Amino acid sequence: MGDLFVLDHPLLLHKLSILRDKNTSVKEFREVVSEIANLMCYEATRDMPLETVEVETPIAKAMVRRLAGKKMAVVPILRAGLGMVDGISRLIPSVKVGHIGLYRDPETLEPVQYYCKLPNDIADRDVLILDPMLATGGSAAAAITFLKDYDCKHIKLMCIIAAPEGIKKVRDEHPSVDIFVASVDEKLNEHGYIVPGLGDAGDRIFGTK
Ligand code: PRP
Ligand code: URA
Repeated sequence: MGDLFVLDHPLLLHKLSILRDKNTSVKEFREVVSEIANLMCYEATRDMPLETVEVETPIAKAMVRRLAGKKMAVVPILRAGLGMVDGISRLIPSVKVGHIGLYRDPETLEPVQYYCKLPNDIADRDVLILDPMLATGGSAAAAITFLKDYDCKHIKLMCIIAAPEGIKKVRDEHPSVDIFVASVDEKLNEHGYIVPGLGDAGDRIFGTK
């Protein structure tokens, strides 16, 4: 069974307060999304396997621990997930990046897929799906189903803000997936927006409204 991790580090909560503020500029919003992804990456990669090797310091030999080289991929859900990639790749420069394009039909709120490009060996990689917003959960659940169809076995989901409805949907449909969030907000409004949320993440990252 996967877990829900609600990350509450003071730096994260402070940065989240900047995202929520409607007066935050596009430039700052984009920067802070990336910084939050960077901070959340610490927790989402806590179980990365390590190996012990010997190195020589200028003083003596030392047994040290380093990453065992398990392959990882991040998969941002377009568009808004793109804003989180850079925050992860600054910590894990060799990470491969797949893209899944989904948008929510404004009437039905159902996810519509329009793009997909994944690393060839995605099935052998630990996959971290990125999307700032988990609202109804339709987009995230569809992305996970899609990755499972590609035979991915180890899938995690990282979102900045989640609604209880979205968490429930993902946990019901994909119980093995760990979910990492910085906030579980109150509810969805009648248009499927998270309350209080931060508005439309894609529009605020890319300045399209
Ligand atoms: C937003 C967000 C998620 C989705 C969440 O994307 O980035 O992908 O909505 O909603 P859900 O949990 O109800 O599926 P949107 O569809 O607005 O597309 P965009 O990123 O291109 O703006
Ligand atoms: N997508 C967003 O960008 N924001 C929400 O509140 C819900 C879905």
